[in-house]
Amino acid sequence: MDKTFKRHLITAALPYANGSVHIGHLAGVYVPADIYVRYLRLKGEDVLFICGSDEHGVPITFKAKDLGCTPQEIVDKYHAIIKDSFHRFGIGFSIYSRTSSKIHAETASEFFTKLYENNKFTEQESEQFYDPATKLFLADRYIMGTCPKCGNTKAYGDQCEKCGTTLSPEELIEPHSRLSGETPIKKATKHWYLPLDKYENWLKEWILDGHKEWKTNVYGQCKSWIDGGLRPRAVTRDLDWGVPVPLKEEKGKVLYVWFDAPIGYISNTKELLPNDWEKWWKSADTRMIHFIGKDNIVFHCVVFPSMLKAYGDGFILPENVPANEFLNLEGDKISTSGNWAVWLEEYLEQFPNQQDVMRYVLCANAPETKDNDFTWKDFQTRNNSELVAIYGNFVNRALVLTHKYFGGVVPKYNKEQLTEEDKHIIAAIPEITTNLQKCLDSFKFRDAIKEAMNLARLGNKYLTDTEPWKLFSSDPQRVAVILNLCLQICANLSIAFEPFCPFSSKKLQAILGLAEDKKEICPVSVREGKISWDMLSRTDFLKEGDKIGTPELLFSKIEDEAIQAQTDRLAAIKKANKEKEQKDAASRPLPLKPECTIEDFDKIDIRTATVIEAEAVPKTDKLLKLTIDTGVDKRVIVSGIAEYYKPEDMLGKQICILANLQPRKIRGIESNGMILMAKDASGKMKLVTPQEAITNGAIIG
Ligand code: MF3
Ligand code: ZN
Repeated sequence: MDKTFKRHLITAALPYANGSVHIGHLAGVYVPADIYVRYLRLKGEDVLFICGSDEHGVPITFKAKDLGCTPQEIVDKYHAIIKDSFHRFGIGFSIYSRTSSKIHAETASEFFTKLYENNKFTEQESEQFYDPATKLFLADRYIMGTCPKCGNTKAYGDQCEKCGTTLSPEELIEPHSRLSGETPIKKATKHWYLPLDKYENWLKEWILDGHKEWKTNVYGQCKSWIDGGLRPRAVTRDLDWGVPVPLKEEKGKVLYVWFDAPIGYISNTKELLPNDWEKWWKSADTRMIHFIGKDNIVFHCVVFPSMLKAYGDGFILPENVPANEFLNLEGDKISTSGNWAVWLEEYLEQFPNQQDVMRYVLCANAPETKDNDFTWKDFQTRNNSELVAIYGNFVNRALVLTHKYFGGVVPKYNKEQLTEEDKHIIAAIPEITTNLQKCLDSFKFRDAIKEAMNLARLGNKYLTDTEPWKLFSSDPQRVAVILNLCLQICANLSIAFEPFCPFSSKKLQAILGLAEDKKEICPVSVREGKISWDMLSRTDFLKEGDKIGTPELLFSKIEDEAIQAQTDRLAAIKKANKEKEQKDAASRPLPLKPECTIEDFDKIDIRTATVIEAEAVPKTDKLLKLTIDTGVDKRVIVSGIAEYYKPEDMLGKQICILANLQPRKIRGIESNGMILMAKDASGKMKLVTPQEAITNGAIIG
């Protein structure tokens, strides 16, 4: 930090209240934000940690429509679920509110009005899609049709989710309104735009010249947006769900969700501190940091700052925007609609009280610089061979031995008794904690958590090397030194791990007699109490004679069965998704072949014929050998229909054949023609037969 800041305003992206939160959300945004906030609080900094539900936007209205309820009911439901999940994972927000609140509507309206009155917007009329049946303008997502690329009949006006192509409603084949099924028409409508092009030079200076220290992925995205040329962005929409546009004559228009949502950071601060919020938002000595996922970068680095700049009045800008990339799950993109996710509330049902394990794994494997993969196997390994085998094992050994040899009291020693080995340990601790702090300061949480674990490694190795259990009978004084130092390392660990694994840290602090409040792991603002970050590195932290509580295991082994249950569950989901996809594919006709002429068609000779003999071709499961009467001749055709028809099904059936197909040998049998089958996109086949009996050899055409 080059400037001195008096306070830190930390925001975490407001999640959409149209579904639960999953590990991707935690890994990308909320765990790193919480780590950072806990670290600042430990340092005694003045911190606010702001979040809440983002309750507007088109997808919420869809979900409501699909479920036959109101958007308000949807957001009420998910706001409660999300808030509870975060709380249970120890994400220590100062406030978790919501954008459907009254104070938010007021704040967002006021923000819009001020920009409007100061002529910060441009007004533009444009032709937009309109549903004549419902008399509503349709957002791109509200329009459905057939994808011109892959033929998916359920493509949206902004994207085909089957093939991933970005679309515009104009490109859809047979576009129709998702609301009424009607074909949309174009109709003129007026909207307000924030002319981002006017902020281009300023953004260049502020970000491209002024914030070269931002993460490469963030800086890179900003650069490509700015270099690509910014265009005015509409800040209003024709929609009935959102903050109404606060202009008298405008009915049926709301603020665009990406205009109102970031203002939610302000309104939530206001809600928490009605008299004091401006100090947090309008003082040059407040340091604002936005934690977000990579899909939010442009909004937090370009759009929202331009809004704040346009508003003026002393609003500060973010000092940093440490955005993460995405987390995948077992090799595939996390998908809410495909249920390909680990939902937080489900996780806690299956792994009760194991919040720290998930927090640890998600941080150790965070998608900080590139997309990353979560696997249950890695989850198990990190728990069993790191949390249990290193951190937990060291702490447990230190505590149990102290109880065994010294009645649970921190043993006493003199400085003169320290050996070279002890001195080495005492010197190694600050080396690790300095690195830890450096990593935390630069938002490198993966590296940071490694350093915290290195501290446990150090302790574990010290204990294993010195083997105090072999020394006690001959040299109890030596054991006193070793265990005293081990306990001091435990105290250090309880602080070093607190940002990452607050639940087990609290437990350990309670055992060591350091916890001021055993229940509270989500303090609101400044952290008060005995423990602080500057106690790290000290080896005189626990006083001789202090009583240590009963040892308790911090972590427990996760068995193969528990992991198997999770991978089985995912496999079942994958199977169900695949089946559904096949079913969808089967109901969707394949695109037409290129045009042909009647002459092309005339070349082929399609006839009726009757099967007079049928047998399976030995050693195959797909082929039948059929002898048929074509009226003209009797011939053999080998056909790949055994999956669908048994020989006895075929006997006596009248069918259609391609009669003039060049003969060819199949499994040593000459086949003279082809049986006509109707085949759907999934490959399923049915015989084509004349509706009524007709003489064999009748020409089809
Ligand atoms: N709801 C958005 C998302 O999940 C994030 C909104 S962040 C805010 O992608 F700044 F707009 F609040
Ligand atoms: Zn497509």
